Amino acid sequence: MAFIRTSKRSTPYEDQKPGTSGLRKKVTVFKQPCYVENFVQATFDALGEKVKGLIIVVSGDGRYFSKDAIQIIIKIAAANGIKEVWIGQNGLLSTPAVSAIIRNRVGPHGEKARGAFILTASHNPGGPQEDFGIKYNTENGGPALESLTEKIFSITKTITKYHIADGINDVDISKCGTHSFTGPDGPFNVVVFDATEDYVKLMKSIFDFGAIKNLLSRPEFSFCFDALHGVSGIYAQKIFVEELSANPHFLVNCVPKEDFGGGHPDPNLTYAKELVHRMGLGKMVPTEKIPEFGAAADGDADRNMILGNRFFVTPSDSVAIIAANAVGAIPYFKTGLKGVARSMPTSAALDVVAKALKLKLFEVPTGWKFFGNLMDAGMCSICGEESFGTGSDHIREKDGIWAVLAWLSILAHKNRGVPRGGKLVTVQDIVRQHWSTFGRHFYTRYDYENVDAGAARNLMAHLVNLQSSLSDINSMIKEAKLNVARVIRGDEFEYKDPIDGSVSKHQGIRFLFEDGSRLVFRPSGTGSEGATIRLYIEQYQSDPSKIGVESQVALAPLVEFALKLSKLEAFTGRASPTVIT
Ligand code: G6P
Ligand code: ZN
Repeated sequence: MAFIRTSKRSTPYEDQKPGTSGLRKKVTVFKQPCYVENFVQATFDALGEKVKGLIIVVSGDGRYFSKDAIQIIIKIAAANGIKEVWIGQNGLLSTPAVSAIIRNRVGPHGEKARGAFILTASHNPGGPQEDFGIKYNTENGGPALESLTEKIFSITKTITKYHIADGINDVDISKCGTHSFTGPDGPFNVVVFDATEDYVKLMKSIFDFGAIKNLLSRPEFSFCFDALHGVSGIYAQKIFVEELSANPHFLVNCVPKEDFGGGHPDPNLTYAKELVHRMGLGKMVPTEKIPEFGAAADGDADRNMILGNRFFVTPSDSVAIIAANAVGAIPYFKTGLKGVARSMPTSAALDVVAKALKLKLFEVPTGWKFFGNLMDAGMCSICGEESFGTGSDHIREKDGIWAVLAWLSILAHKNRGVPRGGKLVTVQDIVRQHWSTFGRHFYTRYDYENVDAGAARNLMAHLVNLQSSLSDINSMIKEAKLNVARVIRGDEFEYKDPIDGSVSKHQGIRFLFEDGSRLVFRPSGTGSEGATIRLYIEQYQSDPSKIGVESQVALAPLVEFALKLSKLEAFTGRASPTVIT
């Protein structure tokens, strides 16, 4: 079918600044006239002449408005000289799968995709009144770097027209197949394919599926995976049930829904309610037997949460434990790790492992893109963040299902000598063993969501001021007889990328204590309404007799001090956080 290119007049929007993970707004905002068109055109303009003849991927977590956005992007791509658009069946592809596709999928003539529009607002709710998002990833499979997103933003502020194909009707994305068109730049194809095949192939090349299958076949082992109605459900079905023969009963909420079933697709103890209940961590005692292992992923399947029977594994511990066990348990890492990395607010549990294994450790600002540069340079194999992101250099995004397979691999490895029917080494055993070897980093995060933006700014300014009065802070600790160590440093985290030399400033305010404890304050970069303040609290304990204490109990004095120091309630009017993880 033939189409022509038409240029349509448009007026700019002022608010199309992509955040840490793309442009994220309410659906009602995206539905404004030309809102999507402007942003997509600005992205092509920012990429410049090199978009001509490229293949791009377009898909996402299936949230409300995705299907409309896909049809718009197809037509704008065609009019901008893109040669082919690759789409997962029904417009579904997880964020990690998109990254894998950019890096590995090869078209019939040997070409690869050079970029992707990922349609997701990650862990934010979906639906007509909720969030939507568009994120652009580049040829290494990772999120666009700030230089590109800044360029896109500046173009959105002055854009006056966009190009769109006239003559392409809505493409049926519910069936696999190729739709061919001809336009002013030559042939243009829309290729719809199975959303799971590339990703499953990659996972099979990383993990020992035989060993995991063996674990899952043990009658004494059971697990539960909660997709929170996000896109991970289709990968869970394929990998856990079809490839690894798990009991389908192990999967909950694995049918993707446009509104995530009305829930909040964020895998944490507050929002993954059903999983938390089944794993015996809820208010009610579950009626069914509690599984040995539980996991959840967020809307676009890049985040994960790992649980044991009545046991929560903090994301900071999770990455440290994966790093400590990777070489023996995961074939992909059998020749050793190149280095490890964590974001600044993530606990130092990984640092202790890195030291013991003589690995280089990188501390980067919050945001997965910072890991990408290290991985491209061959300096980092495994990385993770406190915000439930864990991953490796197999792709350039964090990867929820990968993290679950990593834990299943560790469980399989630790249980390889245990006879069938014998007492299994559990998630809890693995974590406790890790703490007794490396010490424990008690850790908690308090989130104050949707705080007034002005109040949040004042709070941060107050904290910056405090950095120059450490002696006052220490007198305050003494006077109030607070059971915490002395503060020895207060600063704002700044990072110089070792590869491109770029400097990222104002990445969070830190108070560092003599005993290694840390308090970190940071405004969230991913919210879509008001401001969210995050307070991260960490304390190291190497005495094996003290590592078993409940974390909120162990951290209570530091929490009390943090709230006093920051005057958080006075600034924000909030007596307690909205979410504690
Ligand atoms: C996204 C990014 C993560 C980052 C997180 C932080 O999920 O991909 O790399 O850690 O946002 O979110 P925040 O709301 O704390 O800025
Ligand atoms: Zn996500």
